[in-house]
Amino acid sequence: MDIKTKESAFWYPFTQMKTAPEPLQVKSGKGVMLELEGGRQLMDCISSWWVTLHGHGQTEIAAAIAAQAQVLEQVICAGLTHAPAEKLALRLIGLLPEGLSRVFYSDNGSTAVEVGLKMAFQYWKNLGVNHRTRFLAFEGAYHGDTLGAMSVGHRSVFTQAFNELLFETDVIPFPETWIDDDAIETKEAEALLQLDCLLEANGDRYAAMILEPLIQGAGGMRMCRPEFLAAVHARLKSHRILVIYDEVMTGFGRTGEYFACIRAGTVPDILCLSKGITGGFLPLAATVCTDAVYDAFYDDDPMKTFYHGHSYTANPLGCAAGLASMDLLESVPQNFRKIAAWHETGIGKLQKNTRLTRFRVCGTILAMNVQTGEDTGYLSSIAPYLKRRFPEKGFLLRPLGNVVYILPPFCITEDQLSAVYQCIGEVVGEL
Ligand SMILES: Cc1ncc(COP(=O)(O)O)c(C=O)c1O
Repeated sequence: MDIKTKESAFWYPFTQMKTAPEPLQVKSGKGVMLELEGGRQLMDCISSWWVTLHGHGQTEIAAAIAAQAQVLEQVICAGLTHAPAEKLALRLIGLLPEGLSRVFYSDNGSTAVEVGLKMAFQYWKNLGVNHRTRFLAFEGAYHGDTLGAMSVGHRSVFTQAFNELLFETDVIPFPETWIDDDAIETKEAEALLQLDCLLEANGDRYAAMILEPLIQGAGGMRMCRPEFLAAVHARLKSHRILVIYDEVMTGFGRTGEYFACIRAGTVPDILCLSKGITGGFLPLAATVCTDAVYDAFYDDDPMKTFYHGHSYTANPLGCAAGLASMDLLESVPQNFRKIAAWHETGIGKLQKNTRLTRFRVCGTILAMNVQTGEDTGYLSSIAPYLKRRFPEKGFLLRPLGNVVYILPPFCITEDQLSAVYQCIGEVVGEL
């Protein structure tokens, strides 16, 4: 199929249609493997944009969706509710740290973030506090592609065309770290100093700070230390600023714990979930908040209502998939807990390649930089080569600029991961 002709009417995301190579045609998926038209196999080492939690073609989730589709496929969630949505909300708060108690559904990671931002903003209005109108965020953050989510995200080639539309956000440095990083304390102190300066000048102007806890995903799999997050959290709390954790990527076992907030040991006021929530089967999202946030909207005054919703709010099929996925997650947590140790072994092998630097692991996620001698970033000149070579060798790996990372479905085996490390070593060796 030629995407430059009328053979395809599909306009692909994040893609320059004129210069993009032909996409690979995928026929089916099972476990960690994708089968292409023509029979070639490709190992999905990135969980298809970080959504496929347990593996492709997971039969329990497929069966749960099929069963739900026979009973109730969709229903308006205004004045009506249904069992899968109610059950999933209770399951989610049962697994999250105590204090997070109310679940607001939407459809994807960006909407989970939009909901979180709007909730935080209106929270203060509802309390009669009109001067808390600004947001804080980290440099390098990615929170999605809708306008609010872009506004609190890093300005980049992705936002450039829209910058005039975005609201201003104050940012502080993200002290990324890696194995054998001996400058981390200095970087953290610098970030905290900048936060202190902003808080001293404008501490009572901020509605909330939004952040990706422990790992900035699209920003280059950049990791920070839990103790740094705790220090940020304490400062925000002392200024009564709401804390929003964007766990769209880190949720559901990715960091080696059910949620990054558990690993970080801090509880946000608002937490955004999507991606793995249905095991990667259907689009669904949830923004979870504390009673304190919820109570600010709970009132006889209609103007204190949270006027936000979506046609597919709490779609029953998505919720049924979510419940089945949580059954799996909780019945075999060792599946996501054991991957970190395999990554440590993998690093031992990959470290022999001197072009690979800044190794870092957080639970199931391993990332490293390929040294290029040029200014790096998303448009790094080696990225197209790497993006082409990995699939040629049978592995779906999509570097973020010069950052190569593995974020696998939890069904991956130690042998399969060894093959991924070997492939990375070989391809980087070709450079
Ligand atoms: C941390 C984070 N937040 C939000 C989003 C946006 O999610 P979606 O692509 O489902 O809109 C992403 C997507 O990669 C993400 O990684």
